Amino acid sequence: MQTKVLTMDIKNPYNEKEKLVEVATLLKNGEVVACPTESVYGLFANALDEDAVKKIYEAKGRPSDNPLIVHISSYDMLETIVMDVPKKAKLLMEAFWPAPLTILLKKKDVVPATTTAGLNTVGVRMPKNDIILSIIEEANLPLAAPSANVSGKPSPTCAKHVLEDMEGRIPCIVDGGDCDFGVESTIIDLSSDTPMILRPGNITISMIESVIGKVLVDATIINDSVIKEAPKAPGMKYKHYAPLCEVLIVKGENDKVVKKIYELAKNCPKKVGIICTLENEAFFKELENVKTFSIGTRSNLNTITQNLFKILRQLDEDKLEVAFCESFSRDEEGLAIMNRLVKASGHNILEV
Ligand code: TXA
Ligand code: MG
Repeated sequence: MQTKVLTMDIKNPYNEKEKLVEVATLLKNGEVVACPTESVYGLFANALDEDAVKKIYEAKGRPSDNPLIVHISSYDMLETIVMDVPKKAKLLMEAFWPAPLTILLKKKDVVPATTTAGLNTVGVRMPKNDIILSIIEEANLPLAAPSANVSGKPSPTCAKHVLEDMEGRIPCIVDGGDCDFGVESTIIDLSSDTPMILRPGNITISMIESVIGKVLVDATIINDSVIKEAPKAPGMKYKHYAPLCEVLIVKGENDKVVKKIYELAKNCPKKVGIICTLENEAFFKELENVKTFSIGTRSNLNTITQNLFKILRQLDEDKLEVAFCESFSRDEEGLAIMNRLVKASGHNILEV
């Protein structure tokens, strides 16, 4: 299959009617199209068409017990797919949507079991990206989408990454530039009385608690160690985000971390990379034969979420064998960053 790349202007996709119609027609005909969102790129198909949704699982090589998130562009569309919208869900939608915030609610029968992997809940979100919003509106369909990577690889944050994984597997990729946030949406389960965060993202726990009060957090996302208990979101149990390159996270006070990474890198016989913040980059300058990746600044954690997956992919592109990485506190967006880094490292953490 030939994969066509369509470039769309994030500033005014509504102006590009011809492209919108082309993409919407593919979707209405049960095809899969990769499109940008504000979090990561997704592999989109009609959420109500079982055969279309099966094509997503095939293209991704995704296990069928892992449910998909359904993307909507309006509250009218939401009503067609969920049983009811509880008060706390309404409050969160009003406060944040459109946003990288997925809310699990009880589904209606129109949403096929293939979309939700047999669960009676469905994850819904209204994305904050005009390209995907205009595509959903044009197709006038709720669209199911997982991240547009091959299962197990880091989520794509630009069209080039999607092409690497999906060329020949899907008919079309919409290139809308780099994603604003770079990590996947926060997931909160509001399908029962006790709200629970299943995946951390840019909409942080404190942002959510400021609107609906105390929430529980799935224990598997706050601990460094591998927990025996299965995570509540099926997809969180899979090996994920993992580059071939070994990743070691070095954790502790900044001075000690920098010193340790320097020593490790200097004495390592393998092809070495260092993932560091802008604040520490200068310390590693003089190291020879070491590739340094500046992940962003600690003064704006959004810069770090933006670069994280790109760097994980780059490690393998550069054929590095081991990468030493700074760690982050789990405050605010730090929780989302550490969740992805810890998974990428396979829980490989050194405390100094
Ligand atoms: O930002 C995002 O959420 C991106 C963009 C494309 O919207 N999507 C994304 O989808 O990250 P995916 O499939 O890569 O991750 C969705 C996660 C999986 O861990 C899945 O198990 C969980 O959400 N999930 C989806 N529906 C669920 C449900 N009904 N109950 C529990 N977990 C669910
Ligand atoms: Mg994913």
